[in-house]
Amino acid sequence: MKFDIDLDNVPVHVGIIMDGNGRFATAKGLARSEGHKAGAETLRRIAIDAADIGIKYLTVYAFSTENWKRPKDEVSGIMKLLYKYLKDWDKYIGGRHVRIRVIGDISDFDPVLKKMIEFVENSTKKETELTLNIALGYGGRNEIISAAKKMAEDYKSDKLKLDEVNEDVFSKYLYTSDIPDPDLIIRPGGEVRISNFLVWQSAYSEFYFTDTLWPDFTKENLLEAVAYYQSKHRRFGGL
Ligand code: IPE
Ligand code: IPE
Ligand code: MG
Repeated sequence: MKFDIDLDNVPVHVGIIMDGNGRFATAKGLARSEGHKAGAETLRRIAIDAADIGIKYLTVYAFSTENWKRPKDEVSGIMKLLYKYLKDWDKYIGGRHVRIRVIGDISDFDPVLKKMIEFVENSTKKETELTLNIALGYGGRNEIISAAKKMAEDYKSDKLKLDEVNEDVFSKYLYTSDIPDPDLIIRPGGEVRISNFLVWQSAYSEFYFTDTLWPDFTKENLLEAVAYYQSKHRRFGGL
């Protein structure tokens, strides 16, 4: 291995913005849907690698609120792929004990897909090796607005007082209420932005950007990102 990492200082929570599927396919003269297929396969591999390294939480950005604006057939292709992978998840994950959770607003998803999501979340809820959070219909700003609305409701019904509101309390209203903030966020695909991913939670995350397209992303890339995190990791605010 080119990148030696310290297994005692592995980031607990890693986020990945899985970008570059379309360009991967286009460069090979293939349809964008082939890029999404290849990207789904990369997620399968990397989830296993993350579990092997000792990462406890992996949150992957799979479909954003903005992605609804893509052509209808691309959106439905992504949805079909999601269904297929969720249905056969235990076959793909090579016996790893992975808990799967979905974060985001899936209210506009097809009812059959929603049922499958619920089924997989339920049937994996006792697994503790790795928690894989799949961000679907996810947008950080949307998440913050829905947290604010829920808080307003609790305030109205006297469950919450104004002077009780602080950062910890606010965090409890987010999709990630029981998940630690991400230590490291990785974005393959060459773009250097967060595209509305974990906007609140990433306040102190380390960011690792690479030109490698998501379908080409390997364990070596993951180790390089973790090594980067380990070279940077320090306490903020204090000395
Ligand atoms: C990311 O790859 C996957 C989704 C957003 C669903 P893209 O489809 O954005 O790929 P590029 O950025 O066009 O290459
Ligand atoms: C971010 O990628 C969203 C996901 C990976 C699901 P996009 O390709 O949609 O983001 P932009 O358009 O580059 O900001
Ligand atoms: Mg993209």
